[in-house]
Amino acid sequence: MKRLEGKSALITGSARGIGRAFAEAYIAEGATVAIADINLARATETAAELGPQAYPVEMDVTQQASIDAAIATVVEKAGGLDILVNNAALFDLAPITEITRESYDRLFAINVSGALFTLQAAAKQMIAQGRGGKIINMASQAGRRGEALVAVYCATKAAVISLTQSAGLNLIPHGINVNAIAPGVVDGEHWDGVDAMFAKYENRPLGEKKKLVGAEVPFGRMGTAQDLTGMAVFLASKDSDYIVSQTYNVDGGNWMS
Ligand SMILES: NC(=O)c1ccc[n+]([C@@H]2O[C@H](COP(=O)([O-])OP(=O)(O)OC[C@H]3O[C@@H](n4cnc5c(N)ncnc54)[C@H](O)[C@@H]3O)[C@@H](O)[C@H]2O)c1
Repeated sequence: MKRLEGKSALITGSARGIGRAFAEAYIAEGATVAIADINLARATETAAELGPQAYPVEMDVTQQASIDAAIATVVEKAGGLDILVNNAALFDLAPITEITRESYDRLFAINVSGALFTLQAAAKQMIAQGRGGKIINMASQAGRRGEALVAVYCATKAAVISLTQSAGLNLIPHGINVNAIAPGVVDGEHWDGVDAMFAKYENRPLGEKKKLVGAEVPFGRMGTAQDLTGMAVFLASKDSDYIVSQTYNVDGGNWMS
């Protein structure tokens, strides 16, 4: 028996990277998945590659109307919403003296407000359906401690861990589990961008930061998106029904808590 048979999932920011890998894993377990992303062209391409259980949805998590429209589309296409993964996020990097308000506002708008108000809209839908649900927020090891050049992103991910705790407590009486995953360093297009930013601020050749962070992982290498899918499927399945408000580190041993 597939673990997510007949379930309807919405994954924000799933046109590429970790969200895309989660969509593939959920589909393999029998779910139908909305590939929801601000980049509709990429979401459409990804959904076509993932097959008939995937469909693209244009969604900007910073806009309430866009959140509401995306949930309505999922309900119309799949007959309801059972699983939300709050995965869309933005990264930026700067020393404290160079942080701009624009960067701060954008990161908090996507990573924190976007996640909270998407969670809220999904929770309203799940409560109305009366059959519980699963909400998974993407945190990060960055939310566990500060990093000299990464103050704002770290703060957004600490906020995601905190929101996961409160929302989990508030929603479990409705049978809705809210939990989070805190990855370490995951190779892909996202980290190509991060590497380029470190190259600029730490005066390194391109690719060097990636090699360094990979070598520092106790497991011995950077993670892949596929390293995270086991936890993502588990938290979306019945097997996690008794788990409330937790953030799980899936990071090759980088952080212990
Ligand atoms: N890659 C890592 O090393 C790493 C580590 C820890 C945590 N994470 C977290 O995992 C999640 C996925 O990371 P990733 O590496 O796949 O990132 P990514 O940058 O590859 O993908 C992010 C996706 O979000 C979309 N997006 C951006 N703004 C949006 C908006 N306003 N509305 C909707 N979609 C939007 C982008 O178009 C993109 O497809 C993020 O929450 C990230 O913070 C990643």
